[in-house]
Amino acid sequence: MSDLHYIEKGAGVPVVLLHGFPVDGRIWRGQLKELSKTNRVIVIDLPGFGKTPLDGAYTMDSLAVQVHGLLKEIGAEPCVLGGLSMGGYVALAFYQKFPTDIKGLILVDTRATGDTPEATANRNELIRQVHHRGPCAVVDAMMPKVVSDNTIAAEPETVTIVREMMEACTPAALEHALVALRDRVDRTELLPSIAEPVLIIVGECDTITPPAEARQMQQAIPRATLQIVPDAAHFSPIENPAFVNRAISDFLRQLNSR
Ligand code: MLT
Repeated sequence: MSDLHYIEKGAGVPVVLLHGFPVDGRIWRGQLKELSKTNRVIVIDLPGFGKTPLDGAYTMDSLAVQVHGLLKEIGAEPCVLGGLSMGGYVALAFYQKFPTDIKGLILVDTRATGDTPEATANRNELIRQVHHRGPCAVVDAMMPKVVSDNTIAAEPETVTIVREMMEACTPAALEHALVALRDRVDRTELLPSIAEPVLIIVGECDTITPPAEARQMQQAIPRATLQIVPDAAHFSPIENPAFVNRAISDFLRQLNSR
């Protein structure tokens, strides 16, 4: 039996959603509510986050295998697989391993490239800080980047939830995730071979995985569309759920009509 904790709601073509770092499935709360009106939505907590226990070291590839195992167990493939940032890295690893189990991909605030030498150095420094200061180090480093100024001004409750998710992480969960993020494989060469429709979503103010990179992914994937989310930074699904839900619903409708 899979250790991965998940929530599911609704019926129809499965839509599986994977969260980013360092949050959990709650980042998709707006999508779970809305998209489950038309689809079977499955939101997974990756190891060490939310309600899924940490079970030692992992890679994006081993996470993809774990997610695949769960989906097989609960009869949820083929599916539309969506991932936010780190979840997007896992989604691309999943596609590379199990392309026939994918009906479409939703890549949100993410990228296909690996870490640059500078990003690797920053990860190593953050790992060192987490070791000494725990989740505060990650909150301090990431909070200013993951939500937009607009979200901070207009959606204080959203900011509180994001902060709570980050603060709930154990140092071990953060360290294992940072190592897996740092060591992930560059999947740029996979992009031209993705045969299924792909929806790319990015916050207009995302500085971690900026719109320019999203455009490059769109150009490299044969059947990709790009939606840029107003008033959002890196956690666009929780910052502007109405826009993101509309983009995903339109994508799912087009997939269903094929
Ligand atoms: C995430 O949101 O999952 C992270 O920002 C990904 C990363 O740091 O590469």
